[in-house]
Amino acid sequence: MADDAASSEAGTSGMMARFVSELFGSPLNIALLGICAFLFYKIVSSSRKSAAPPPPEPELPKMKKRDFTLEQLREYDGKGQDGRVLVAVNTKVFDVTRGKRFYGPGGPYAVFAGRDASRGLALFSLTEEAIKDEFDDLSDLTTMQMESVREWEMQFTEKYDYIGKLLRPGEEPRDYTDTEDEPSSEEKKDTDKKND
Ligand code: HEM
Repeated sequence: MADDAASSEAGTSGMMARFVSELFGSPLNIALLGICAFLFYKIVSSSRKSAAPPPPEPELPKMKKRDFTLEQLREYDGKGQDGRVLVAVNTKVFDVTRGKRFYGPGGPYAVFAGRDASRGLALFSLTEEAIKDEFDDLSDLTTMQMESVREWEMQFTEKYDYIGKLLRPGEEPRDYTDTEDEPSSEEKKDTDKKND
């Protein structure tokens, strides 16, 4: 009995030792752990800051529907006068100003502000190489990576307002003056509640 307990203890500690040595055994793992720890710290520290909040910034008025070229999108990186932040995912442009602690200057995902985040999200990468300066048609991505882009797109659609399309070079912007503005995700939730 005691032998059993001792050997199972030895087994567990052996497994732990193997896990720790595998985790820290490769420089790549150490680098990934470092990145995760840094992002986690940034997210937790920005939530702490908002636990004792300064007076909340007034919400920006909802943006009118419009389409964007990549250059036009770049203007909305959160560093402009009104601090608005837009991010494109799978050619859809979202107003992520509500998530400024993620995408605003100094935020963990600030690299996506005013850019097309699709490739970065698909590759789970926050490096500059994952965000192209020219229009990115994502044609080299695998089926699984494209599936991941679509899942992120759905997540953004749930949380943020859709503003318009990211235009390919030469593509004309659509005229939205004759279309009624679609309700925002918040408005949609309100209507859903009322209909319940
Ligand atoms: C491995 C290290 C990482 C950790 C520990 C981490 C942690 C988190 C946490 C805790 C959240 C939820 C925050 C909240 O809702 O309050 C979050 C959201 C998010 N993460 Fe990460 N993350 C990591 C890596 C990444 C990478 C590499 C990317 C991009 C490729 C990424 C993109 C995002 C996005 C887009 C959100 C959603 C933000 C929003 O709600 O708008 N994360 N992450």
